[in-house]
Amino acid sequence: MKCDVLTLFPDIITAYLKESILKRAQKKKLLEVKTYNIRDFEPGKHKSVDDYPFGGGAGMVIKPEPLFKAIDFIKKDGEPRKIILLSPQGKPFDQSVAEEFSREKKRLVFICGRYEGIDERVRAVLVDEEVSIGDYVMTGGELAALVIIDASVRLIKGALGDERSAEEDSFSRGLLDYPHYTRPREFRGFSVPDVLLSGNHKEILRWRRKEALRKTLEKRPDLIEKIHLTDEDKEIIAEIKASSKEDA
Ligand code: ADE
Repeated sequence: MKCDVLTLFPDIITAYLKESILKRAQKKKLLEVKTYNIRDFEPGKHKSVDDYPFGGGAGMVIKPEPLFKAIDFIKKDGEPRKIILLSPQGKPFDQSVAEEFSREKKRLVFICGRYEGIDERVRAVLVDEEVSIGDYVMTGGELAALVIIDASVRLIKGALGDERSAEEDSFSRGLLDYPHYTRPREFRGFSVPDVLLSGNHKEILRWRRKEALRKTLEKRPDLIEKIHLTDEDKEIIAEIKASSKEDA
């Protein structure tokens, strides 16, 4: 996955990328990220990249020129690119969009807005896709760019230590994750469920599926409606519902 990040705060991006799995993914050439400071493309003497909004109102707007210049500059190498604007008005980012981005062959260009927004002509002329990471407003798009890069890169084969992790986890199967335990077996009076120590792989898989279904039913029942339930899932759900009725 190859990315260009246009931002007024490149250090936010590089700080996160130099740690842990994303650092390793870059070493393994699974991820390449170039950051560009939008301010470097502002031709004015004072390097101010924002200006007052026409029509009045609060806040400042990022001017079109530095962004057009930045995009012209990065496009010079001729590589195909998809230009993504991060904003709360974009299409919602989720696991299926992460999968799409992880397979994208074009370079992904993330434009991180700041202030009240960016000049509409940037959106109209330059942007291919507008993406939001949730229904809230942050002070800028940098964290959104990192969320998207992080969630997408970990889906690339070889990015995680254990190849099964990405497939097995949470939303890949459309369900919330099952509980995990490590040593010690007994901790402050709480013990690890016996089935996980049984060595019976089939039973362990069934237990994990049941706990994932239980947690999803409890916390995100909307997700259950979106997935295909096998006959065994339906049986497990009936068991969960019967035992919760008994408890009530
Ligand atoms: N910039 C500010 N808020 C945002 C959000 N929710 N998603 C993406 N970019 C943003």
